[in-house]
Amino acid sequence: MEGEKGTVCVTGGAGYIASWLIMRLLKHGYSVRATVRSDPKFKEDTSHLISLPEAPERLQIFDADLEKPESFEAVVDGCIGVFHLSHPMDFEGKIPTESIIKTSVEGTLGILRACLNSKTVKKVVYTSSIAAALLVGNTEDGTVIDENTWSDMKAFTDLDFPGAAYIVSKTLTERAVLEFSKECHGLDVVTILPAAVFGPFISSTFPPAFPMSLPLIFGKEEHYMLFETAHYVHIDDVASAQIFLFECPKSEGRHLCCKFDVTIQEVAKLLSIKWSKHLLPLDFLCKMEEKIPNHLSSKKLMDLGFSFKYNLEEMIDGALQCCKEKGFL
Ligand SMILES: NC(=O)c1ccc[n+]([C@@H]2O[C@H](COP(=O)([O-])OP(=O)(O)OC[C@H]3O[C@@H](n4cnc5c(N)ncnc54)[C@H](OP(=O)(O)O)[C@@H]3O)[C@@H](O)[C@H]2O)c1
Repeated sequence: MEGEKGTVCVTGGAGYIASWLIMRLLKHGYSVRATVRSDPKFKEDTSHLISLPEAPERLQIFDADLEKPESFEAVVDGCIGVFHLSHPMDFEGKIPTESIIKTSVEGTLGILRACLNSKTVKKVVYTSSIAAALLVGNTEDGTVIDENTWSDMKAFTDLDFPGAAYIVSKTLTERAVLEFSKECHGLDVVTILPAAVFGPFISSTFPPAFPMSLPLIFGKEEHYMLFETAHYVHIDDVASAQIFLFECPKSEGRHLCCKFDVTIQEVAKLLSIKWSKHLLPLDFLCKMEEKIPNHLSSKKLMDLGFSFKYNLEEMIDGALQCCKEKGFL
């Protein structure tokens, strides 16, 4: 039985954010086609999706791979919307940067072409990242980052740290998405740029971005300096914002999605209240100077009528509680 709101596609369906989004879309009355990769090398456990209460009637799982963009054609045909989230996530420098960029940009453009050809897809919500709107070097304390801010490709391409490939590939993919939407009329395409997404999760694997989002618990010492200040948003607020942007007739272009701008010291303080038994690198923290974070402005999203629900404590507790229950902590 088709959901009363129609059928939408979610790419990278078994992933951390996509799984939560699928759960929320099903609750909202949509039917969902989730894409996963069938290659045994990458095969994901989808039991957390199949066991959702609405799944037997309104969830279908399809094979599709960004490296074979044509594999998305049959999936999007008949959908009214597409939430595109799949992206090669490699924060350890295992995959060459060029290959990540090629897979992401060409795969994403292939999905957009399939949407346009389908004639059924009306709107695409591409999940970009705050990684596509970063400033490097010395910025003034409290500088405002908004939809006009783009990551400086040259600065990040020259930076020798594993997360640089992610920053470059997300930026180039989002630019390609917006360029495509400018040139191709008849397909409404919007982007959302979430800050570090935190909170509980239903996916069965350890969320690959956690070492970067909360390096004090999951990361390596070399990552701490990159997170003297950080920006966070709850996973449920992100799913609500993705659905909100899909349903909002006035949404267009980019939309930053961030609730909290914090210092590493503030995060450490919060962690030490409930999670003190976990090792915090206190010596290291003592030596770090407290900085005023830049402000990632979600004004555009909120001016459209969106409101955030969750606080920082709920994000951190939700994520760590889930990690504990699933044996990752
Ligand atoms: N987590 C964050 O804090 C955060 C913040 C801002 C934006 N985002 C964005 O949100 C999206 C989801 O991120 P996530 O944190 O939920 O990560 P995730 O759990 O790793 O999800 C990424 C998904 O992409 C899929 N994928 C990777 N390579 C693929 C390929 N060649 N073909 C098809 N699918 C492929 C993965 O499938 P497999 O399982 O088969 O590998 C996985 O399901 C990404 O676009 C990310 O850039 C995340």
